[in-house]
Amino acid sequence: MQCVLAAGGLSRSRSCPLEGRSSRAALNWAPCIWVATPCGEQIHREVQDYYGKELQKSDDLKTSACVTSARPLPKAVRDALERVHEEVVARYYGCGLVIPEYLESCRILDLGSGSGRDCYLLSQLVGERGHITGIDMTEGQVEVAKKHIAYHMDKFGYRKPNVEFLQGYMEKLRDAGLADDNYDIVISNCVINLAPDKRAVLREAYRVLKPGGEMYFSDVYASQRLSETVKKHRVLWGECLGGALYWRDLYSIAEEVGFSPPCLVTASPITIIDKELEGIIGDCRFVSATFRLFKVPGSSQAGPGQVIYNGGIMGHERELVFDANFTFKEGEVVDVDAEMAAILGSSRFADKFLIQAGRANAAAPQGCCFKGVKEKICDPFQLLERLAAPGPACRPGGTCGPPGCC
Ligand SMILES: C[S@@+](CC[C@H](N)C(=O)[O-])C[C@H]1O[C@@H](n2cnc3c(N)ncnc32)[C@H](O)[C@@H]1O
Repeated sequence: MQCVLAAGGLSRSRSCPLEGRSSRAALNWAPCIWVATPCGEQIHREVQDYYGKELQKSDDLKTSACVTSARPLPKAVRDALERVHEEVVARYYGCGLVIPEYLESCRILDLGSGSGRDCYLLSQLVGERGHITGIDMTEGQVEVAKKHIAYHMDKFGYRKPNVEFLQGYMEKLRDAGLADDNYDIVISNCVINLAPDKRAVLREAYRVLKPGGEMYFSDVYASQRLSETVKKHRVLWGECLGGALYWRDLYSIAEEVGFSPPCLVTASPITIIDKELEGIIGDCRFVSATFRLFKVPGSSQAGPGQVIYNGGIMGHERELVFDANFTFKEGEVVDVDAEMAAILGSSRFADKFLIQAGRANAAAPQGCCFKGVKEKICDPFQLLERLAAPGPACRPGGTCGPPGCC
């Protein structure tokens, strides 16, 4: 599904070239472009104003870089969505679907949970024995989320709430009282681009994840490092573009923090149709992509191997499309590289697979950026091209197609 970006965004100035074309109300007359590179606190304040005061409902985001899931929704997810309160849905501003598989009884943390749509969706999928924490820095959004806890628990038939909402910064989860090794999964939906310090966000997510835990998140990525002009453009920042990470930098930050190399799940294009914004952006391209990162314990570093999916994950009984490189069909032997063997062996997926070390043949996709007979795809822009190309091999989960990663 393609998303179209026109003019729009944060507070406008009278001199802003985009003034008057946005569907959104201008909050004040602050300048369109920050005079100097904004500091972290200034960005936080602007973003809080935007999501707390300026936007009232998802419709106000029609000029934003938001996209729907590149994958069809499983029925259980569609049904769960229908049970979420309309006010919560109305203030949803996400850019992807952050619902990984096999969630029963999991503890999940949502970074930048907004009005709580994804939290209430996941509350149903983890069941009463699971738990969801949503954290967001914008008071108004947290208030909307909290207001509907009783409604949802009643609707889901739960005796006590399995959801909590905290107001706080995702870069400072310790300040919000979140302990080490406490969550099975951390999710985030179109939020990390808004954070001035992405490294701090990933470091904190890694800290609060249990060993074997997973970070599964959708966000906007750039095809190159952004110029200072783009980064200082408050409209572009508000539109989730000015703070977008160059996709390769995600791989280096993830490694630095201790995560396994990111597994690219899906990618959807973002098209900029406004001529003035296009002129500022130049030849940089943007994509919305979903990645999964695992906190693999040091002791699980195995070699390549072969795995067989036993089935049994609700909604994915016959086939588990793990990412753009690996699809596991029930009962079928699949060669995996050392990274995937370690991920499957140490994560919540371990009891759904038979894993045999040291049996992979040379045709297995090798780790991103390493040469192999078939290479893993790790560039979301390349995945877009592959998805657009005709042919049965060109789909997420297929391991063939034009080679070349990184
Ligand atoms: C584009 S909205 C997405 C909200 C939500 N994930 C959803 O899907 O509706 C971005 C949200 O991230 C929150 N946010 C941005 N930066 C944050 C930070 N540093 N810490 C916590 N929340 C943040 C904003 O307050 C806003 O609610």
